[in-house]
Amino acid sequence: MITPVILAGGSGTRLWPVSRKSFPKQFANLLEGPSLFQRTLERVNTPEFAEPTVITGEDYRFIAQKQLAEMQVDCGGLIVEPMGRNTAPAVLTAALLHKDNPEKILFVLPSDHQISDAHGFRQTIFKAARVAQKGMIVTLGVKPDFAATGFGYLRVEGGNDDALMISQFTEKPDAETASRMLEDGNWLWNAGMFLFRVDVVLKAFEAYAPELIGPAEAAMALGGEDLGFMRLDADAFGRCDEISFDHAIMENLSECTALPLTCGWSDLGSWQALKDIGEPDEHDTVVLGNSTALDCEGSLLKSENPDVKLVGLGLKDVIAVATDDGILVADRRHSAQVGQVVEALRMEG
Ligand code: GDD
Ligand code: MG
Repeated sequence: MITPVILAGGSGTRLWPVSRKSFPKQFANLLEGPSLFQRTLERVNTPEFAEPTVITGEDYRFIAQKQLAEMQVDCGGLIVEPMGRNTAPAVLTAALLHKDNPEKILFVLPSDHQISDAHGFRQTIFKAARVAQKGMIVTLGVKPDFAATGFGYLRVEGGNDDALMISQFTEKPDAETASRMLEDGNWLWNAGMFLFRVDVVLKAFEAYAPELIGPAEAAMALGGEDLGFMRLDADAFGRCDEISFDHAIMENLSECTALPLTCGWSDLGSWQALKDIGEPDEHDTVVLGNSTALDCEGSLLKSENPDVKLVGLGLKDVIAVATDDGILVADRRHSAQVGQVVEALRMEG
């Protein structure tokens, strides 16, 4: 059995106004139907997987609990972080929770992705779990189609489609480096999902991030059960450095294994990415929610509010998104900058 560990504590702002700190994208209504978090739960809700461990932030605990209940998923443990410390302390805490079963396979996965072929995805995970069983840290690689700077990159040294040998892991390169990697052709995007045995990942933390272990263990020992949540002690957890699993562990490994992922993976990191996976009309415009497009081209229109009709007329390459309390109108080529604008607004107060 594979135990999913679902990371659901991030607070993305690039999909403002739908995703915001108080209601981040993994829980938001980005696509019609279930949230990305719920789609993630669904993807690993087959007999081959054990109940998932979910780890999220204090502010999101009731949203996560409600969305789990809506999907009728029993969660093997809903860990609540008193404050976000990025993904390394989150992964470590989940691994410590399972430390009495050192050979258990954990499958760490983000909750902010879209995958179009869930069956194909699971087949890849089953293969990856067999490699992880042998003691490797396994990740999944996606063939890049542009020089993205928001992803980690894996350098493929050899192997075959059942297990690629990765000689280097570079998290979020600058634009110039990303272009060189794309030209070089031997790099894959890191899909942000990892499989390993509990004992193997704990050894990796001992080797590369030993300073996290004491505070994480104390956070668990001093924390406790409360209303169905597993709370971490705030003082102890606050002593963990704020660092991603990618920087703390993956970049330091001398070798790891990757499996190619070919199941329609999208990170959904921006409105442009959402438009790319939506179903466009004959003028390449995606219309979601309470919206209508007339003579629009290459645009995305989305109104979340049933009382506010969003109408686009003669637009070209525009992203227009309306919620109850925010409206975004942007040139779609600027969609990667939405997060910066939101940060700037926050600074203004
Ligand atoms: N519990 C918890 N606590 N979860 C967190 C925290 C935290 O402090 N910070 C982030 N997460 C969750 C997010 O909600 C998301 O589901 C997942 O962890 C990954 O975090 P992101 O912040 O979205 O990472 P990223 O997208 O910038 O980069 C990662 O994913 C890329 C692929 O999408 C890296 O693994 C990259 O290497 C990778 O290419
Ligand atoms: Mg992400």
